[in-house]
Amino acid sequence: MALYSDKVMDHFLHPRNVGVIEDANAVGEVGNAKCGDIMKMYLKIEDGIVEDVKFETFGCGSAIASSSMATELIKGKPVEDAMKLTNKAVAEALDGLPDYKMHCSVLAEEAIQSALEDYYKNDPAAKK
Ligand code: FES
Repeated sequence: MALYSDKVMDHFLHPRNVGVIEDANAVGEVGNAKCGDIMKMYLKIEDGIVEDVKFETFGCGSAIASSSMATELIKGKPVEDAMKLTNKAVAEALDGLPDYKMHCSVLAEEAIQSALEDYYKNDPAAKK
């Protein structure tokens, strides 16, 4: 069996939603101390919906594929759904990641969480 699924390869080679959202109202950045990789997530949230999401990563192929898939999974969804996105769901949507690469998908989950914390910090009324 190939180490990486076709979906991982597709998202790695053709990542979706790469870039910066200049007027994002939620930005999060996280890093993995072990590998030194960094991920930044930009969200544009309107009326409780993730209208747009983009990411930048200085990370490995699995991190690129994970963040690409994660952005697809939360785009157009209510903030509550984005809150609940787990790295496990991202890995499953990619048809799996090798065990030793699961931490890369954690980076995607944490970057989204970090962006949402930023959102709530800037707009406490949004918490309702
Ligand atoms: Fe660092 Fe994948 S090896 S995120």
